[in-house]
Amino acid sequence: MTTYITTPIYYVNAQPHLGHAYTTIVADTYSRFKRLSDDNVRFQTGTDEHGDKIVQAAEVENIEPKEYVDRISGMFRKTWPLLQVEPDNFIRTTDYDHVAVVRGILQKVYESGDIYFDEYTGLYCRGCERYLTEKELVDGNCPDHQVPPKEIAEQNYFFRMSRYQQQLIDHIKENPEFITPERYRNEVLSFLSEPLEDLCISRPKTRLTWGIELPFDDKYVTYVWFDALINYLTGLGYPDGEKFKEFWSVAEHVIAKDILKPHAIYWPTMLMAMGVPLYEKLHVHGYWNVDDTKMSKSIGNVVRPGDLVEEYGIDALRYFVLREMSFGLDSSFGSEAIIARQNADLANDLGNLFSRSTAMVYKYRDGLVPQFLGVADEDSAFVASVQSMLVDYQQYMEQFRFHLALKAVWELVSVANKYIVSNAPWVLAKEPDSAKRLDSVLFNLLECLRILALVLQPVMPGAAAKMIEGLGLTAGDERVTSLKKGRVWGQLSAGSALKKIETLFPRLEMEKKPPQPQKKQSGKKKVAESSEDLIDFEAFQKLDLRVAEVVAATAIKKSKKLLKLTVHAPEERTVVAGIAEFYTPEELVGRQVLIVANLKPAKLMGVHSQGMVLVAKTTVDGKERMVLTTVDEGVVPGSTIA
Ligand code: MSP
Repeated sequence: MTTYITTPIYYVNAQPHLGHAYTTIVADTYSRFKRLSDDNVRFQTGTDEHGDKIVQAAEVENIEPKEYVDRISGMFRKTWPLLQVEPDNFIRTTDYDHVAVVRGILQKVYESGDIYFDEYTGLYCRGCERYLTEKELVDGNCPDHQVPPKEIAEQNYFFRMSRYQQQLIDHIKENPEFITPERYRNEVLSFLSEPLEDLCISRPKTRLTWGIELPFDDKYVTYVWFDALINYLTGLGYPDGEKFKEFWSVAEHVIAKDILKPHAIYWPTMLMAMGVPLYEKLHVHGYWNVDDTKMSKSIGNVVRPGDLVEEYGIDALRYFVLREMSFGLDSSFGSEAIIARQNADLANDLGNLFSRSTAMVYKYRDGLVPQFLGVADEDSAFVASVQSMLVDYQQYMEQFRFHLALKAVWELVSVANKYIVSNAPWVLAKEPDSAKRLDSVLFNLLECLRILALVLQPVMPGAAAKMIEGLGLTAGDERVTSLKKGRVWGQLSAGSALKKIETLFPRLEMEKKPPQPQKKQSGKKKVAESSEDLIDFEAFQKLDLRVAEVVAATAIKKSKKLLKLTVHAPEERTVVAGIAEFYTPEELVGRQVLIVANLKPAKLMGVHSQGMVLVAKTTVDGKERMVLTTVDEGVVPGSTIA
């Protein structure tokens, strides 16, 4: 199979921001997913460098447009590697080949009679670089730029777009997947229910010279959209290039809703006039706001991709934008939300699953992959969840429903964490008769991690590469580079060695809010007689006892006794527990323990402890031992002990 995926080519009147980053990360993720599906893939992005907007931006800086576009285009090009985005082609509309092809197409369409010369009076918005209809205006202003358009009367060249209106309607109706999600398809069909006007495709040089000169009239340059859309063809070497033959019929464009009309109406009708088959699919997403506010230079809330990577790391950024946005709808970006996802989904859920599972293989099997003994009856449900995740993941990725694909993956992460708790490898390790069972449990966990690394590659190529390394596999290994081959269960080789890697996902510090003690019921009645050994109920009520879930555990340097636990109770807090002689950190993660939540914070070996874990003190073989207290069945973290 073959895949050709493109992003819009971005205007160089502004530097790259979160919105550009999102579209490009989406296209990169899809291209990586398709490579994982063994497709022959081409992924293209680039910059749109002609037109009024660019001239204005260069004027502000007092430099020539060419110098200006070279600089900003360079910024876009340098941004993509920071985001682990790897396009196969970066196109610029000032590239010589592109200019030549645009002129060739104009000439051809002109000769076939679909471009004509006419006088036109219309309302022109310089920001939009197009004529607006009366209907589009809001209080006499352009809805996007909030300024009144200027009435311009001039002679120009027009593309007979109206001629292709019915053909386009038919195509959209016959191909339900041509424009998705459906809301945008409906929006286009509704727009097409009114008569379509022809498109003005030239600008007189008297008011704009920075553009591609019309081949049939040197007093005009080409309207920037007629020039820009053609990039999708010129990047393939249209009309004679091999790549055009190879990739065009499967072209998929990713855009946001702001440029739906040029892509869903101008572009297909242009292709019809050129006699070129239409692209296969248009994927339209919503807008990113920042803290629920539209990103804008004047508000000063424009988010730069480089800053985001520096602040949160690339894995968190890519994961967050794909997990958070429901493709097609708007979303809001916020620092707390991304940190919460990094700490909960990445560090706690996936990071801990990886570190606990591999740590147990080091501890109980010298870091070597145990033998695969077939899927035991008691493990069949676990293996079935891995397989069903793969089915959901693949289907959702195909449909551009990335948030659902990731939700399915994280459901499996949670199943795997529970699999550890319910199989308690630390108990099996103490029973010589359970050696084979322990082999199976550890093998299954490693296999699950291998498949997780496989499916996470498109989303977080960096983190997935670390997981692959940690599992002792090499980057090109088919077991982690091909969905078809890699999905088969039981492929890790017995006896192969894992490799130690640094922490997959470091926890990020959120601005700390003091933990809120839970409200207590007011019960003032005395229930016990007072005596020296008895306390009254009020005294007991002062204790805030709760169930806490351990989400991370680490040893405290220089201390033989202390462990640092991160727990949810339900808010996140750190509790230092003196149980290091009796429990390893990895066997604690995922467990529910009882804590005193309202103990005055204390600093132990440099770590602030916000509470105390309750243990039973007992004696085993004459030695004192501490055993964790817990609840009889899983409860919501933070449940009170009454
Ligand atoms: N040059 C044209 C596109 C020509 S394609 C033949 C253009 N450029 S642009 O720089 O304005 O980029 C618009 C695109 O950037 C959107 O369609 C979207 O992909 C991305 N985004 C810009 N702001 C965005 C958000 N706030 N949120 C999400 N994506 C946004 O239009």
